[in-house]
Amino acid sequence: MLPCSQRIIAPSLLAADWSRLADECSRAIRAGVDWLHLDVMDGHLVDNISFGPQFVATIHRTNDIFLDVHLMIDRPDHFLDRFIKAGADNITVHVEANHDVGDTLRRIRAAGLTCGLAIDGQTPFAAAEPWLDQIDLFLVMTINAGFGGQALIPETLDKVRAAKAWREAHGLSYHIEVDGGVHNGTLPDVLAAGANAIVAGTALFGVPDMEAAVRHFRSL
Ligand code: DX5
Ligand code: ZN
Repeated sequence: MLPCSQRIIAPSLLAADWSRLADECSRAIRAGVDWLHLDVMDGHLVDNISFGPQFVATIHRTNDIFLDVHLMIDRPDHFLDRFIKAGADNITVHVEANHDVGDTLRRIRAAGLTCGLAIDGQTPFAAAEPWLDQIDLFLVMTINAGFGGQALIPETLDKVRAAKAWREAHGLSYHIEVDGGVHNGTLPDVLAAGANAIVAGTALFGVPDMEAAVRHFRSL
């Protein structure tokens, strides 16, 4: 995985035109993004349903790019092997989900992937503290998970700041990823707070010139 000082741009496929998925993935790769962010939702942990392991396997089979799989599902432990087999490169699981967080993180790394831990919009930073020394990526949801196109919740940036301070205080090196409501207007505050991995759906797949959007994201 890239160093946590590196700016990482990861468009969320949730915002892509699903009637032209192959073209949309090619468009993102041509635009120079670093990762594809795949939002898996089960209708239990979040009030929406998106796609599963077969969808991830299709994206993996037809594209050569790092797949950042975000499991917004209640039982990531139960489905984990299927997402590993599908070709995920990173798997991020939620602290709010119904599983043994430490065990799930260990299993992800044991399979040779990088592992991430996510906290949702209303979850306090302290909920993640027990596992911050066991992860490669910490995802701070800057909205309440479930739907693209929402407005960033400014208070969540305090958790990004806390994550950066914790990382420095404990000599760790996890990426700090943000997800939800990130666009040209909110990105400066997000970067100032300490995030380096940027997920965006609407602001990247939702614009005609993704290459220009990616260039602008990198310039800030
Ligand atoms: C929603 C997903 C986010 C979402 C971001 O829970 O996790 O990745 O797609 O979409 P935007 O960037 O449009 O807020
Ligand atoms: Zn996501």
